[in-house]
Amino acid sequence: MLVTPEYNRGVSAPLKNALDYLYAEWAYKPVGFVSYGMTSAGLRAAEMIKPVLTALRMVPVPDGVSIRLRQRLDAQGILAPDEVMAEAADDVLAELHLLAATLRPLRLRRAHTLDAVAS
Ligand SMILES: Cc1cc2nc3c(=O)[nH]c(=O)nc-3n(C[C@H](O)[C@H](O)[C@H](O)COP(=O)(O)O)c2cc1C
Repeated sequence: MLVTPEYNRGVSAPLKNALDYLYAEWAYKPVGFVSYGMTSAGLRAAEMIKPVLTALRMVPVPDGVSIRLRQRLDAQGILAPDEVMAEAADDVLAELHLLAATLRPLRLRRAHTLDAVAS
C-alpha cells in the first residue's frame, strides 16, 4: 500500500524518487493507494503515478482509500476517519491479498533471475 499526498495536482517527488530508487524490487507487487489532499483526496496524484507503476511491473488495484482532508480533519487537525474509509481500506486490502498470492510465482521467478545475473 502506498500513501501519497497531492501537491499542485500531481504526485509528490519523494514517492517518485522511492519508486525510481528501488526499481527492480517493485516488480510483480500489487499496489493500492491511500491518497489524500486538501481538495481532491489525492486522486489525481494516485492516477498520475500509475503509468510509472506499470513500467516497474507493479500491478495497481483499481480502487483505493481517498481522503479529502478539508472534510475529514477536525478542529485540531486530527484525521477523523469514517465508515466509507474503513470499508474502502478493507476492500483494497482484500484485493491486495488476492493479487499478492497470485503474483507470488512471478516474484519468485524474478528473484531467481536477478540472483543468477548477480552471481
Ligand atoms: C504547495 C501546495 C500545493 C498543494 N496542492 C494540492 C492539490 O493540488 N490538491 C490537493 O488536494 N491538495 C493540495 N495541497 C494540500 C496538501 O495535499 C495537504 O497539505 C497535505 O496535507 C500535504 O501532505 P503532507 O503534509 O503529508 O506532505 C497542496 C498543498 C501545498 C502546500
